[in-house]
Amino acid sequence: MNKTILITGGAGFIGSHVVRLMVRNYPDYRIVNLDALTYAGNLENLKDIDSKDNYLFEKGDITDAPFINQLFKKYRFDGVIHLAAESHVDRSIADPLAFIQTNIIGTVNLLNAARDSWKDDMVGKRFYHISTDEVYGSLGETGFFIEETAYDPRSPYSSSKASSDHLVRAYHHTYNMPVVISNCSNNYGPNQFPEKLIPLSINNIKHNKPIPIYGKGENVRDWLYVEDHARAIDIIFHEGKNGETYNIGGNNEWQNIQLIKKLCEVMDQKLGRVKGTSEKLITYVTDRAGHDMRYAIDSSKLKRDLGWEPSLQFEEGIVKTVDWYLENEDWMNRIVTGEYEKYYQNQYQHR
Ligand code: NAD
Ligand code: DAU
Repeated sequence: MNKTILITGGAGFIGSHVVRLMVRNYPDYRIVNLDALTYAGNLENLKDIDSKDNYLFEKGDITDAPFINQLFKKYRFDGVIHLAAESHVDRSIADPLAFIQTNIIGTVNLLNAARDSWKDDMVGKRFYHISTDEVYGSLGETGFFIEETAYDPRSPYSSSKASSDHLVRAYHHTYNMPVVISNCSNNYGPNQFPEKLIPLSINNIKHNKPIPIYGKGENVRDWLYVEDHARAIDIIFHEGKNGETYNIGGNNEWQNIQLIKKLCEVMDQKLGRVKGTSEKLITYVTDRAGHDMRYAIDSSKLKRDLGWEPSLQFEEGIVKTVDWYLENEDWMNRIVTGEYEKYYQNQYQHR
């Protein structure tokens, strides 16, 4: 094997698409997927590639520093693509500490292990930190986040991600670590845990349950198909410049209510329902605390410097996404029991 690459959080939504792409595209790399298999981690996401010769899975927690140090000694990684995180804003409002532990302490544990492992020779090494557009705060009706936009995180989740971004940059400046960071907008597509707006709504529509829309549904997000994000990650990992940040976005803004109406239209078609049936499930509920109004990414640097742009139009992406969830009912049904039901009750019963 030419290189050994550590991917953290590879059993999660975006991580599983990144692992698949790397395992398939780079047969001469050994891909090690490290994941704690929290509620969001699911090895079923990788069942099509888990017997490949260049793929290995390690169950472990990035908050466990001795374990992480041992892992670096065992594999002598050439590169790290770090996606493991607590990722859901609503959970961060309910329990911030888990976000501090995984997103901040966990990232520092990986940085320390990489720094110690690479201290005699940083050439050809790379620590790639995957982050979010939420670190930039909230936009008004106009404007876009660029790489120089000042950080203004406003939820425990985005604050913990902002903190980890700062630490990654600090390790570049202080220890000369070869790092790169990207900040991406909202992803959608197969294998997303149904706590997030789109898969949650698909599941509820299918079972004729209310679709909970926070506040007035006027908040705007910029949606990117997950495979386009994975492709950007591949390009940035291989061609990005050390110390640089790249914004990744879909150039695809939707108000939540318009997005859900579009989703309802697609679901009506796919389920053979009369047009307008699923929309009747839309239910306005109490807003998310501190709900950021609008995110919109300017990804022109990534296009200009590395030639990436989104490949899929939203109209096509949302149909592919709905098809996947309807064809993979078992995947969804295995998740939406037990713990998920408790989570759902806690989050939504008093809204
Ligand atoms: P996810 O919640 O679906 O997956 C997270 C994965 O990390 C899971 O497999 C989980 O088991 C693992 N994990 C959590 N804590 C861990 C720990 N302590 N040790 C080891 N593994 C642990 O998340 P996602 O939506 O795929 O997001 C992946 C990354 O991309 C995150 O860093 C997130 O901040 C970032 N991001 C997400 C989006 C999005 O729209 N989902 C957009 C931009 C950036
Ligand atoms: O912008 C990137 C971020 O996108 C990532 O960093 C996060 O990990 C990811 O979870 C996502 O954050 P959001 O908070 O934007 O995603 P979520 O799917 O939770 O919500 C999308 C929008 O829909 C948001 O405005 C809140 C709203 N919403 C969400 C849920 C779950 C609802 O109206 N109802 C809901 O039930």
